[in-house]
Amino acid sequence: MSADVIGLAGREPTRPWFDRDVQFDHYGAEPLPFGCTGARGIVQHFVELKGSEAGRAFEVLDASGGYGSACLGAGSDVIAEAMAAAVHDVGYVTDEIASAERSRLLEQLFGAGGLFADRFAAADYRVSGRNSGSEGMELALRLVLESRFDRRRLRAVPGAEQRDIVLGFEGAWHGWSGGLLPLLNRRHYRVGLPTIAPEQFGFRTDHIPFGDLDAAREWFDRNGEQVLAVVVEPVQGDAGILVPEHGYLRELAALATRSGALLVADEVLTFAKTGRFFAMTDEAGPIPTDITVIGKNLGMGALSTSMVIARRDLGVRPTGAVSTSDLRPLTCAVIRAGLEHIVAEGLVERSGQVGAQLGRLLRDRVVAEFPDLYREARGVGLLHGVELTDFAAARIGELRTCMIRNGVYVEFMSGAGRRSRGLRYVNATMRVAPPLVVTADDVETIAVRLAAGSRALTELAP
Ligand SMILES: Cc1ncc(COP(=O)(O)O)c(C=O)c1O
Repeated sequence: MSADVIGLAGREPTRPWFDRDVQFDHYGAEPLPFGCTGARGIVQHFVELKGSEAGRAFEVLDASGGYGSACLGAGSDVIAEAMAAAVHDVGYVTDEIASAERSRLLEQLFGAGGLFADRFAAADYRVSGRNSGSEGMELALRLVLESRFDRRRLRAVPGAEQRDIVLGFEGAWHGWSGGLLPLLNRRHYRVGLPTIAPEQFGFRTDHIPFGDLDAAREWFDRNGEQVLAVVVEPVQGDAGILVPEHGYLRELAALATRSGALLVADEVLTFAKTGRFFAMTDEAGPIPTDITVIGKNLGMGALSTSMVIARRDLGVRPTGAVSTSDLRPLTCAVIRAGLEHIVAEGLVERSGQVGAQLGRLLRDRVVAEFPDLYREARGVGLLHGVELTDFAAARIGELRTCMIRNGVYVEFMSGAGRRSRGLRYVNATMRVAPPLVVTADDVETIAVRLAAGSRALTELAP
């Protein structure tokens, strides 16, 4: 069988893998030599695309959730039924017309006793829907910028111009849109691309190391009067799954509030992954935010969608311009069915326990066994990172291939890189974040396969 014409494991007639060289590549390397012909739960059906093994079909356990988005794994009957029913029955009215389906979802989330009402009561917050995490974060930034602007008179609120700094964090990633560019922190995320100049109505960004409370305090002492907003991922994702120490997020929120800045939590990645729905939580309960953006898992692996939850006094100027995708009834139906299922099955709570087991396994069976490849494992709930050594970071392509051939799929984050204040460089990091449906047995198998994949890399010729 030729390398580029592979039968789809008996499911479809033989056809070429046309997506291979037509779709953009994000890694700047040879595409991985595998195809996926289907999936169910966390089991994915792969085939080898190249070499003497081309055409070999094998199963891979998914420890990634498709960039952290498929919380119910593949082929959820609950979602399939909800989606089919919604296509038939709920219509597609836009946000100009009340929708029974939208109304049901929002009441279940934000109404009295609602799932999110302990932190986002409808009396205090409003919500908007977008297609992706990036678009949600872009809207959050827009709300921040409009907060110093008089929407009726179309001019700055007197005295508000001085607040022009948006504080972000070293290693930050928030998405793809142009407005977000200044907030991203790795050089390779933004160099050569335009940024917003701090002229009238522009903004500046500054970045401090995540998790360093002294750095935050000193920064607010120096800049407190000029800060417009703080934008934070409560667990930094692309920076290498950096989990802050206990107390950090609450103190950061207090610093923002005391200085009069808005606090934006980017929970696109963390939503329903940290053993809780929201990572902006500690033992005292919800940590208050002005704007929270959730995404990825929110779409239940079936849709790409996000929600921006913002204090009622924040908004955008009414121009008649609309967002086509804002809380479409079908999207609402999928979110509602998925969340109802997650709550009924206790999947978020269970993920806290299974995740703690996963964390132990990663430390004991992966990092401790392969010190040449890994520096440390860290994480919370079902969101874990295993940081690579320089040696492994230089061989990511081979490591990925070894993992997949040993039956486990994981993703790799770029890591925070160089950080200030003498903090050590954070290397590329393997993200181990299986869907919420993963069981205790599954995480055992994932750990065994990660160890096997690691061993395979060490046995490859240098
Ligand atoms: C923290 C964070 N914010 C925003 C985004 C962007 O989300 P999307 O890829 O859905 O646009 C991501 C995606 O990786 C993310 O991890």
